[in-house]
Parts: sequence; structure tokens; C-alpha cells
Amino acid sequence: MRTLNVALGNRSYPIHIGTGLLRDAGLIAPLLAQKRVAIVTNTAIAPLYLGPLRAALEASGITVVPVILPDGERYKTWQTLNLIFDALIENRCERRTTLIALGGGVVGDMTGFAAATWQRGAPFIQMPTTLLAQVDSSVGGKTAINHPQGKNMIGAFYQPRAVLADLDSLKTLPERELKAGIAEVIKHGLIRDAGFFAWLEANMDALLGRDPAALEHAVLRSCEIKSEIVALDEQEQDVRALLNFGHTFGHAIEAGIGYGDWLHGEAIGAGMVMAADLSQQLGLLAAADVSRIERLIERAGLPVAGPNFPRERYLEHMALDKKTRDGASRFVVLECLGSARLQTGVAVDMVGGVLARRVA
Ligand code: NAD
Ligand code: GLY
Repeated sequence: MRTLNVALGNRSYPIHIGTGLLRDAGLIAPLLAQKRVAIVTNTAIAPLYLGPLRAALEASGITVVPVILPDGERYKTWQTLNLIFDALIENRCERRTTLIALGGGVVGDMTGFAAATWQRGAPFIQMPTTLLAQVDSSVGGKTAINHPQGKNMIGAFYQPRAVLADLDSLKTLPERELKAGIAEVIKHGLIRDAGFFAWLEANMDALLGRDPAALEHAVLRSCEIKSEIVALDEQEQDVRALLNFGHTFGHAIEAGIGYGDWLHGEAIGAGMVMAADLSQQLGLLAAADVSRIERLIERAGLPVAGPNFPRERYLEHMALDKKTRDGASRFVVLECLGSARLQTGVAVDMVGGVLARRVA
């Protein structure tokens, strides 16, 4: 097992990456203020992993309240969030009851938001079971639900007490979900580490083949990059915004086409190609690097062009982007492979040009 630290003063926490973690209460028990947890998961993950985790916890004398949500991005809503609160109330959970998010980014984001607001703040632990959640969403304390008009519009910054990423869980992950997770891995290389991007070029086949060593390296390096950025700027005043590379276009794809039709990682795949194209138009990124990015995203089995819906709808959703300041859009652009920055004052025509070239 490898352990990293997210350095946030008295709210610092470990990220454990290894195998067998879903069958082991040893890392969880010492964190609990009360020998009672609510495990929040969904209808797809419960049959796979709730049983072993529950058994391990109960064998350590911990009482488990299971909360099983419907599965899917389209359920990342107020209504589903309320199901968590209903279960916590029904089972007389307290402020010291730890919530455990067992699942992908949807379960993690909703459980985190529930924990942030349940009795004004209860402890929570992330147990991510998708590649995307292990390399990105479980780390850093962004929690949220969607609004029909805008992705992750309602939420809170609220850090977990620990992240336990069990690499064994990736064995049951559907192929399409694995590829979606690779999108965020590629993002980390693009914004912070050209060497890691080159490693991904050399090891894409191993990742797609679920080679354990390749997956471990991808999760570990992604978590290192993400936790370093989060430690510098927890609440996204500046550098954390770079983690949103490809997300201004990507979130517009998700909201514009309807949540759940494209996976988040798929939208980010196409969104990163669009953002790379924009970086080239701004005179920052070489055409050859845009081609390298497009090629790697394509090799990962991800879309490299946005879905065809009206350009105005893209622009409307992009205007709602959370990076917008005083009404002005801000884009994350690449200066070169491995280095990103925020760009204001991008002409609408230039964005229109990107859409014209990069929408199918
Ligand atoms: P997801 O949570 O919908 O999971 C994908 C699918 O895989 C679901 O059907 C799920 O039930 C299933 N699944 C999960 N683990 C499995 C396993 N081990 N075996 C078999 N099936 C499994 O999607 P995701 O890609 O994990 O997360 C996407 C969400 O994460 C989006 O809502 C996005 O906004 C959010 N996100 C948040 C952050 C953040 O910083 N908080 C960062 C990136 C993405
Ligand atoms: N996924 C973007 C962030 O955590 O800031």
C-alpha cells in the first residue's frame, strides 16, 4: 500500500492506495468518533462491494447503516441528496456518525455534500471505486449536486478524513468507465507534468489492459499532482482552477446534451481537445502538441469532438461556468505540455472558431 498526505493543516488527511482495502476495517476504525457509520453507495456498487466492507466493519464492532441510492449522473440531484438525509434521520444517526462514500464520483460528491450539511458537518471517508474517483474526485473536498442548467452548481468545499482507493475494485469497472477515468489522468499530465504525459503515451495500452502496475502508477501520480495543487489552493482562488482544464467545454457538453448521455470523462476528453485548440489559437501551444494531445485522447478511446447541438447552447452553458468572474469567462489554457494557466479576455469569435472545428 502507498500513502500520500493532503497537507491542509489540521484538516490534513491520508490517501491510501492499494489492494484489499475494501475488506479491511483497520484503516477506518481508528478514524471513527463513534462506532457507527452510514455507508452511502448505489444499486450497482452495493451488490459488488457493500457486503465485504460491511462484514469487515461489523467484525470490528462497528454498526453499519447502508444507504443505497439510484445509480447515475442524472440522479445527482436535490431529490437524491434528500434520500441520504431521510436515511440518516430514520436511523437516528448523529453528528459524530461517519459517512462513508462507497462508489464513483457521483456517490462521492453527493455523500460529501450530505456530510458537509448533515447537522452542520459530519465526518466522512471516501472509498472511491472508479478510476475517475480514485485519480480525481475523491481527493480535494469538492462536493456537489447538479442544477439542470449547470454542472456541480450547488455544493461545498468539505474535506474527507481519509481516502481509501482499493485498486482491486477497478477489475469490475465497465470498459467505458475505465476510459472516462483515463481522461482525468491525461489532464494531470497536461497541466503539470510533461514527463507523466509521455509516460501515458508509452503506457496507454497497459492502462487499457488494466495492468496493475500501470494503474497503480496512474492513480499514485494523479493523486500526487492533485493533492499538491489542493494544498496550495484549497478553495480555488487561483492555481486549483487549472484542474479544470477541458472542463469549461466539457461541462457545456454534459449540460447541453443532458446529464448521463455522455460520461463526465468523455466530455472532458473532447473538452481537452477543444481547450488545446483554443490554446493554439491564442499562440501558446504548438500545432504538433495539439495533435499529440488529440492522438492520446483518441487512443484512450475517448471522443475528440463535441456532440452536435446548437453552438448557442454551448455558449449559454459556458457562460454559467464557475470560473466566470464579474461576467467574464476564464479558460484554462496550455502554455506547453505540462504547464497550464488561466486566460481571460478570450474573444467569443475565437471560441466560436473552436466550436466550428471541434464539434462533430
Ligand atoms: P459514477 O460515479 O457515475 O460511476 C460510474 C459508473 O460505474 C456508475 O454506474 C457506477 O455505479 C459504476 N461503478 C462504480 N464503481 C464500480 C466498480 N468498481 N465496478 C463496477 N461498476 C462501478 O462516475 P465517475 O466517473 O466515477 O464520477 C463522475 C462524477 O464525478 C461526475 O459527477 C463529476 O462531476 C464528478 N467529479 C467530481 C470531482 C471533484 O473534484 N469532486 C472531480 C471530477 C469529477
Ligand atoms: N476536479 C477539479 C478540482 O477538484 O478542483
